Amino acid sequence: MAECPGGESKLLVSKIREGTVIDHIPAGRALAVLKLLNPPRGARVALVMNAESRKLGRKDIVKVEGVTLTPEQTAAVALIAPKATINIIKNYDVVEKRRATPPRTVKGILRCTNPTCITRKPGEPVKPKFKLVKEEPVTLQCIYCGTIITQEEIVEQLSGQT
Ligand code: CTP
Ligand code: ZN
Repeated sequence: MAECPGGESKLLVSKIREGTVIDHIPAGRALAVLKLLNPPRGARVALVMNAESRKLGRKDIVKVEGVTLTPEQTAAVALIAPKATINIIKNYDVVEKRRATPPRTVKGILRCTNPTCITRKPGEPVKPKFKLVKEEPVTLQCIYCGTIITQEEIVEQLSGQT
């Protein structure tokens, strides 16, 4: 692969042939993004942490071979990396660039932090649902009890998933 002069330092890990590259992840959140994607056993994965970025200062990058994100995964990535670019790679080329935009409402993937919320009652068929009240940093609000979920809490909850 031809690199422009001085470009070698950018290529810390090799380009991938088929799959997804999630770029412009805030530094420190690569592992949280990887957990979300939950790639199949045996999938080739590369993490770049604390790479230089003009836009972010430092950034993380996650490359997963042979994996295409579902819309749910794209939305979840947006919640922990609102400025991320999702690059779909086919035959070494970037064939699609998606911006990870946080969804206006979030259903199912997070739980309300208020233990007395109706969505936390055992056996209660009320699914958690949040509305986006702020994009930067991502801030959500439970539509049932009004509890605010901060960016840190979102990252913490999504990092804990297996
Ligand atoms: N990439 C990769 N394998 C490929 C093609 C691209 O791993 N076969 C990676 C690049 O290293 C980069 C990301 O996918 O991290 C996006 O590639 P590209 O669009 O070529 O880079 P930029 O133009 O720098 O992207 P942006 O404008 O989104 O910053
Ligand atoms: Zn609630």
